[in-house]
Amino acid sequence: MTDTARLVVDIMSGDFYAGNPHEAWTWMRRNEPVYHDEQHDVWGVTRYQDIRTCSTDPATFANGSGCWPKGFPMPMMVDMDPPLHTRRRKLVSSGFTPRRIAELRDQVAGTCDEVLDGVAERGACDFVHDVAAQLPLIVIGDMLGVAAQDRDDLLRWSDDMLMSQGAMTEETVEKATIAFSEYEAYILPVIEQRRSSGDTGDLIGILANAEIDGDRLSDDDLVFETLLILIGGDETTRHVLSGGMLALLDNPDQLAALRADPALLPAAVEEMLRWVSPLQDMARTLNRDITLGGATLREGDQLLLFYPSANRDEDVFTDPFTFDITRNPNPHLAFGLGNHFCLGNQLARLELLEMMPKLFDRLPDLRLVDGAELPRRASNFVSGLESMPVEFTPTARRAVHA
Ligand code: HEM
Repeated sequence: MTDTARLVVDIMSGDFYAGNPHEAWTWMRRNEPVYHDEQHDVWGVTRYQDIRTCSTDPATFANGSGCWPKGFPMPMMVDMDPPLHTRRRKLVSSGFTPRRIAELRDQVAGTCDEVLDGVAERGACDFVHDVAAQLPLIVIGDMLGVAAQDRDDLLRWSDDMLMSQGAMTEETVEKATIAFSEYEAYILPVIEQRRSSGDTGDLIGILANAEIDGDRLSDDDLVFETLLILIGGDETTRHVLSGGMLALLDNPDQLAALRADPALLPAAVEEMLRWVSPLQDMARTLNRDITLGGATLREGDQLLLFYPSANRDEDVFTDPFTFDITRNPNPHLAFGLGNHFCLGNQLARLELLEMMPKLFDRLPDLRLVDGAELPRRASNFVSGLESMPVEFTPTARRAVHA
């Protein structure tokens, strides 16, 4: 790739993200920071400062037409603008207060052990399917009050709904429609039960009974907001766990340093988030004509904010392509920023902070299987490793569960 020939890529295609998009993003940051994909008439914003601009001016860069790349808006807060968004987010935030997240710590720690119990005796597993995907699924399932035997359904619903947004075909849309009606049929009785009992012991209960300035969430609001929490929290965190673990295995000196000194963990988790950035983009639609990064944009144009590209921006990060668990400062944008800044960021961090030391402790010689293939998900929205075969010395399950 030279700097003189214009790069032509399809930024809507899942294959772009399944390959190594960083090569293209590096070219774009240098040569065409607000990149135009002519085929789909969509723009890609690649520089850190430009993504900041787009994320902190919702009057110009709106979410109301949908935040999924060329997807359709849904009646959930991520597809809303102020003042509607502000009111909705206030209500849903009552389930994510710092106190509430702190209260979940023991439960999340127990879930980490439960997940590791499932693989410890086997000596080998698919780290993505058996470990990384399980943790957020169980955590969110428990928060939503979903019974253990129904978790597989939850995973299928969230997968089917995300795939339709990432690759809209007749088949994926049909699957998403079915998934949505199954989810709705499942969750409505749970909502009804929490409302009638006034039980605020779990997230659904808190949200079903929340009232702020006379505002409450209707059944429909709750169906969509819990769905957003499911798809927002389930598919993303898993990629940070798998991609972050892979980065540590690729950098054995840093893995050894981290195992030796748990005080390094918080900074290491931030670096895992920067490094992996599973949310490839969020869309914004222009409310007026502007120029950005040298490009002339028109009202109604759609822009994709490429968070992983911002997190490799040479103007902000020293040696951005070096994985460095001691990086400081590390102002990454993996969770976005502005009024839509990830509501689940503290929960995601908690899961990562609890799981990593347990992994080191219980599967100390975990390594990649020789010649393992590491396919990435072909999605233009959330992407990361689809599979990561690992092996380790089998260890016993814990005798007593915490
Ligand atoms: C490592 C894991 C995660 C990553 C990388 C991530 C990333 C993001 C990003 C980039 C945004 C959009 C920010 C913007 O448009 O400016 C977002 C929004 C959101 N995330 Fe996350 N997320 C993660 C985990 C979670 C979890 C665990 C939950 C909930 C349990 C969650 C719930 C949400 C919600 C509800 C929003 C919408 C907020 C709004 O529109 O105001 N996320 N997330």
